[in-house]
Amino acid sequence: MDSIVAQIRTLVESADEIGRLNIQVALRRALSELQGPRDVVIDLVNSNMLYAMIRVGVDLGLFRTLAANNRSFKVKELADLTKSTPELLERITRYLASNNAIKEVGVNEYQASNITHIFTSDLGEGMVYHGFNTHGPVIQALPDFLAATKYQDITSNTNTPFQVAHNTKLQSFDWMVKHPEHFDSLQTVMTGFQGAEWAVGLDTLDIEAKKVPFAPPQSSEKPFFVDVGGGHGHQCIQLGKKYPNLLGRLVLQDLPEAVNKLSPIEGVKAEAYDFFEKEPITGAKFYYLRRIMHDWPDNEAAKILQNIAGAMASDSRILIDEIVMPDISAHYEATMQDLALMNMCAGKERSKQQWLDLADRAGLRIEDVHTYVPSTHTSVIALALK
Ligand SMILES: C[S@@+](CC[C@H](N)C(=O)[O-])C[C@H]1O[C@@H](n2cnc3c(N)ncnc32)[C@H](O)[C@@H]1O
Repeated sequence: MDSIVAQIRTLVESADEIGRLNIQVALRRALSELQGPRDVVIDLVNSNMLYAMIRVGVDLGLFRTLAANNRSFKVKELADLTKSTPELLERITRYLASNNAIKEVGVNEYQASNITHIFTSDLGEGMVYHGFNTHGPVIQALPDFLAATKYQDITSNTNTPFQVAHNTKLQSFDWMVKHPEHFDSLQTVMTGFQGAEWAVGLDTLDIEAKKVPFAPPQSSEKPFFVDVGGGHGHQCIQLGKKYPNLLGRLVLQDLPEAVNKLSPIEGVKAEAYDFFEKEPITGAKFYYLRRIMHDWPDNEAAKILQNIAGAMASDSRILIDEIVMPDISAHYEATMQDLALMNMCAGKERSKQQWLDLADRAGLRIEDVHTYVPSTHTSVIALALK
């Protein structure tokens, strides 16, 4: 067994990100073939418990305490440091270690494992809070909601399990901005998915970006790139690193609750904008929307695109950075996300045909689909005016 694990480790070490994802899919499939009914049920129950106990570990500062020190701790000392009791902490640490979230090194003695470190940053903690506090209750509400609505597809964003779980009539973003601890966790989570890999091999962008001079923009110059609903501006920052000549020509737009308290970002102009209003920046070269469309049902998604289409010049393009759901063999991350968005906001991950229909409704046409993570079907869809 050890030699098989060692071989897999070697494979992973030499694989790129796509290869790494493929290896995980294969291992999950192999595990599901090995598991008996009892194993499957225990795993299901355990996944709920593990999520709760990870949150307790975050709340206590247990992971931060272990990871900040390159040594092991006795439970008694950890209880003092985390202001809990040794009797309870002994049971929690034993459980977390049996799930590899921390590492057991002796009797009632623990140190950080590789997983511990994931939950020691604002990002890791934000992921736990968003998944557990914001989305967790919504998942609990889903089965009864579907039964009560006789298993109809969820298409109205004010009638989803979110409203039941959080006891509100508001759409999820409207509710989150009124509950900043939930809104801020979402924003932190989004910064975890940052990078410029979407732009690699995307000729539509690359050719235009390379034409831009390394000089401050002229006062009459239109912005090059507008990140619509760009959250904390992480994608603008990443694009500016890839193409420094674009700095000063990048704009971040999002709700005031997202942009007003941000520290200034060099080379990026941040402005409050509600994408259900007319897009104020006309004639930009690119309008980039990452993980925006999938938050909205078709009517609202079409409205957002129409607002941008109204501001586009003939050479402007919209770049949608999202999943194109395949007709067969969808990755579990894509299918999970599809249901999570349905649950939270009547959103969805769209197939090629659904993207074609949506673009058409907004007076746009698909010019290019650039799939940059094939295993999760993550793509940039370039839209032009018809
Ligand atoms: C799932 S996040 C995606 C953030 C960012 N594009 C990314 O990929 O990291 C959705 C974003 O849409 C923003 N948003 C929601 N409603 C909006 C609206 N009406 N106008 C502008 N932005 C909005 C949220 O504040 C949030 O930043």
